[in-house]
Amino acid sequence: MIDHQAHAEVAGRFGRAAERYDDAAGVQRDICNRLSLLADGQPPAEGWLLDAGCGTGFGVGHLRARFPDRRVLGLDLAPQMLARLSDHHPHAWRAAADMEALPLVSGCAGGIWSSLSLQWCDPGQVFREFARVLAPGGVVWLATLGPRTFHELRHAFQGVDAARHVLECPARQSVVAAASAQALSLVTAEEHLLSATAPNLAGLLRDIKAVGAQGVGAGRRRGMLGRDAWREIEARYERFRRADGAVAISYDAQLLILRKSS
Ligand SMILES: C[S@@+](CC[C@H](N)C(=O)[O-])C[C@H]1O[C@@H](n2cnc3c(N)ncnc32)[C@H](O)[C@@H]1O
Repeated sequence: MIDHQAHAEVAGRFGRAAERYDDAAGVQRDICNRLSLLADGQPPAEGWLLDAGCGTGFGVGHLRARFPDRRVLGLDLAPQMLARLSDHHPHAWRAAADMEALPLVSGCAGGIWSSLSLQWCDPGQVFREFARVLAPGGVVWLATLGPRTFHELRHAFQGVDAARHVLECPARQSVVAAASAQALSLVTAEEHLLSATAPNLAGLLRDIKAVGAQGVGAGRRRGMLGRDAWREIEARYERFRRADGAVAISYDAQLLILRKSS
């Protein structure tokens, strides 16, 4: 069942991030580029192409460049993201919709691109929808985040209070199992541990907020931390300061190519 309240919260956060997203999304752009390299040699079946959770349109841009003769639909929960998409790609189709309940007829898409959106969703429900909408032989080009994502924050916030501060991401095996339960078979996979950096922890958290990726849903902290708690967290985070003086945070990028049987 779709958690409409959590999805409304996700849409609100990404909507507010839309204006600044492109400037702050260095790692997200890097992951799209890596996914597009892995996607080479993994062509779609007949049909148009979907970017599910398209944001401002990095994936739509890739699909339009790589497959100029195909129609491309960018779909996202946040209308403000779709507004940025139409600034960048005025000719792409757009839909404000939920990738857990695609407003699309069955069997019509040749390929589905989805980069860094699955971690906000129920993977089983998303793969059910992807498998329904894909034509036989259709491909899914997928990037999501694995459990080492933001492990530094988990360390720094551990024991501070009972709130959930960090996005929990499933292991690759459970994502692959959820896909294969919907008859989407794994073709190939890659993982990359990537870092974003900032001069200090406050800067890192600002950058995460700028791309809309701070915690959402039940258990997240809603109030401010006390000054002592914040000092303690900052002190713990010093362990992740690098030789060049910046502090770093990890993105455990999981890239998967899946195919629906013909
Ligand atoms: C981190 S951004 C990634 C955007 C883009 N794919 C990229 O690579 O830059 C995640 C996007 O997924 C969208 N999103 C999250 N949950 C969604 C859902 N259930 N259905 C559709 N879009 C969703 C958000 O609104 C946001 O634009």
